[in-house]
Amino acid sequence: MAVYKVQVSTGQGALAGTFDTISITLVGIDGESPKHLLDQYGLDFQPGLVQEYEVPSERALGPIVLIRLHKEPYSVFPESMWYCNTLRVTSPEGDTYQFPFYRWIQGYCTVELVESTAQIPSDDSHYLLQKYRHEELVLQQERYRWKEYIPGTPWCADIDSALTAEVNIQYSFPKASAFFGRGSAAVLESKLKGFLDRPYSWEMLTDIPKIFWFYHSPVSEYVTEHWKEDAFFGYQYLNGFNPVLIRKCSALPENFPVTQEMVAGSLGESTSLREELQLSQRPDPESPIVLPSDSDWLWTLAKTWVHSSEFHLHEVTSHLLRAHLLAEVFSVAIQRQLPMCHPLYKLLIPHIRFSIHINVLARTFLISSGGVFDRAIATGRPGLAELLRKGLENLTYTTLCLPDDIQERGVSSLQNYYYRDNGLKIWAAIESFVSGIVGIYYQTSLSVQSDHELQAWVGEIFTKGFLDRQASGVPSALGTAAELTKYLTMVIFTCSAYHAAVNSGQFELAVFMPNYPSSMRKPPPQNKANVTLKEFLDTIPEMNTTRLILSVLWVLRNEDQDMRPLGTYPEEHFTEHGPKQLMAAFQDRLAEISREIEERNQSLALSYNYMYPPNIENSTAI
Ligand code: FE2
Repeated sequence: MAVYKVQVSTGQGALAGTFDTISITLVGIDGESPKHLLDQYGLDFQPGLVQEYEVPSERALGPIVLIRLHKEPYSVFPESMWYCNTLRVTSPEGDTYQFPFYRWIQGYCTVELVESTAQIPSDDSHYLLQKYRHEELVLQQERYRWKEYIPGTPWCADIDSALTAEVNIQYSFPKASAFFGRGSAAVLESKLKGFLDRPYSWEMLTDIPKIFWFYHSPVSEYVTEHWKEDAFFGYQYLNGFNPVLIRKCSALPENFPVTQEMVAGSLGESTSLREELQLSQRPDPESPIVLPSDSDWLWTLAKTWVHSSEFHLHEVTSHLLRAHLLAEVFSVAIQRQLPMCHPLYKLLIPHIRFSIHINVLARTFLISSGGVFDRAIATGRPGLAELLRKGLENLTYTTLCLPDDIQERGVSSLQNYYYRDNGLKIWAAIESFVSGIVGIYYQTSLSVQSDHELQAWVGEIFTKGFLDRQASGVPSALGTAAELTKYLTMVIFTCSAYHAAVNSGQFELAVFMPNYPSSMRKPPPQNKANVTLKEFLDTIPEMNTTRLILSVLWVLRNEDQDMRPLGTYPEEHFTEHGPKQLMAAFQDRLAEISREIEERNQSLALSYNYMYPPNIENSTAI
């Protein structure tokens, strides 16, 4: 008789436990144990519990390669889902086998878990493991399907309602309640009381901060004080919430007929054209070129139009498309094409945490018909669809890879561009970490090319995310370890650092609403007549629209008790020494980068903290 020790760990979440009956079968190279009931005194599978059991087998099983968990009814209790963290099996000889899972088990069923050593397909020589890899992917492809959401834009997850519920609960309550959860929404409503039913213009600029009277940050106060200044207007293109638009302009566009003479008065010595605004795509007598030397509120109105237009580009292309929708494409493709034992599954799974969930919420509340986009943002949902399509048409692999993007936009030598400075360091840190992981599992180019699971993952992202558009330059297959490293770096950087850069500043930069209005209520100025403050206030959003949009941006602040900063891996998907060492080195490098950023920030009037490791979440999660 051989007796195996089995340790079972249940997740911490409030609903992670189950009352169902759980049994186990151990599968070794030399045979299987009988199905054995896991039962101790008291409750076995409650949130946060780690329980030990003894599992007997008539004969020794050899190295354990697989376990089966059987979830069956218990007495009259209704079925309850179970979030199983990990299992550890210790043989009579003292050998231990880890089975990281970190998933829900729903319904009465049997699930199979393979031993944790990361393996690319060609490494799995045992027929049982090959069979399991295949069966796991077949099952996952039934659970996670693709759906076209808006024609011409990236596809999204098509998961059934049971899995949606699973995904929602899995992603724990702090996250869900933050996003339109009843508790936080009610608290916010009570604080904002009085602005909901006021479809009127603001009477004075000084009234606007009263809406979020309980919120102050150094940045929000700086914005309230400096929002009209040209220098701050320009600064926000470098280090605001949309630092990816700015590019070197070596010649004035043909449709922008401004001359040096027109603006000579407002240019300092040895400076040239750079400050004037035309608020349409074509020169037209009714689209005057507005200059800093024009009347104060006309110039301010022109700049506000530019920021309002940028609000849309930012939310739709920089934020929704490039971060959220791509993160979902990466996520669905990972769930469908990479089995849990694949090293790239283990590498990437922390970087897609909550990504499908947050997008399901966004499709329900924000970008649905009648959602916030329709109610408070000028483009509405039809404009959003059009902007998304255009955004995807122009999205390239170069844009997604920061070092290439910086070159392509010609902004390598731009002064005070902290998004770039911080971003390049973080990109390099991710690249070094990823390169180490790739080096462990892929010794040759052939091993990259012949990994059919990896190639299917990359191919599916190209087809469903980039709609097979060759011109995007996004790879549809990968041929070398270097190509794989770059691709994985792009995925992790996009889901973490890039998303933080375009997400984190939204509230504090827009809470003083005139800085980033979500809609304008009058057409752009059609002549250079004087503009009054009252006309300005009658153009920017009225009180109730301001309240609605700021409530959403409030929720999207990156402040969450459940946040996992970049490079933290509390779930042990990798159990080998090599990847763990690389994770520690990655964390050290990120800490070093943080110190460098803190030091630089000390000399700045306004700290740049959106691309700062402790504020960067591992995944696109809010
Ligand atoms: Fe976001």
